[in-house]
Amino acid sequence: MKLFIDTANIDQIREMAWLIDGVTTNPTLVSRENRPFKEVVREICGIVNGPVSAEVTAMDAPGMIAQARDLAKIHDNVVIKIPMTADGMQAVKTLAAEGIRTNVTLVFSANQALLAAKCGASFVSPFVGRIDDAGGDGMDVVADIVDIYANYGFTTEIIVASVRHPHHVLEAALLGADIATVPYAVLQKLFNHPLTDVGIDRFLKDWEKVPK
Ligand code: E4P
Repeated sequence: MKLFIDTANIDQIREMAWLIDGVTTNPTLVSRENRPFKEVVREICGIVNGPVSAEVTAMDAPGMIAQARDLAKIHDNVVIKIPMTADGMQAVKTLAAEGIRTNVTLVFSANQALLAAKCGASFVSPFVGRIDDAGGDGMDVVADIVDIYANYGFTTEIIVASVRHPHHVLEAALLGADIATVPYAVLQKLFNHPLTDVGIDRFLKDWEKVPK
């Protein structure tokens, strides 16, 4: 499973660049950086050699397509994030025909993911954390998407998004999702286990007793 980082923060991306396979951003994440959007996307593309999702903010298909073409010029690794709406899916179809990769975002049901794949999306992002927050089961949605894509041989890659904790990453991997996009703080937690700390501590203490 590939690991993306879900942030627009350059320091976090630089620190984790050795590990990650790509980056996802969204307007909320970009707004925290207080810098021009395209400048941030360009800088990220210079750090990470993998897909970098940049989101459109137009809500009509022609507007989305125009923004997407503009963003795609920044770097070959830019993937255009398009919201799951009827206009969004029209834009995805047009952009796919032009060879511009898209990541369909704000996906909360397997039917939405089916439509995204049918329209030629390169990636689809089910938001598991937000589904859980609303009383659903985000991983059930991911499991259905995995089955549906396998049934029909869709090549759209599934990005498990809105990840809140390490268990989401584990479940994504068990279900065979292609990618999990993970916030910096959750990425840090993936390295940790209390018994690892205890074990290191004991080994180092015992090592002091070894004659040198
Ligand atoms: C995905 O691409 C989104 O940027 C992100 O995962 C949204 O997560 P949130 O629900 O924590 O805002």
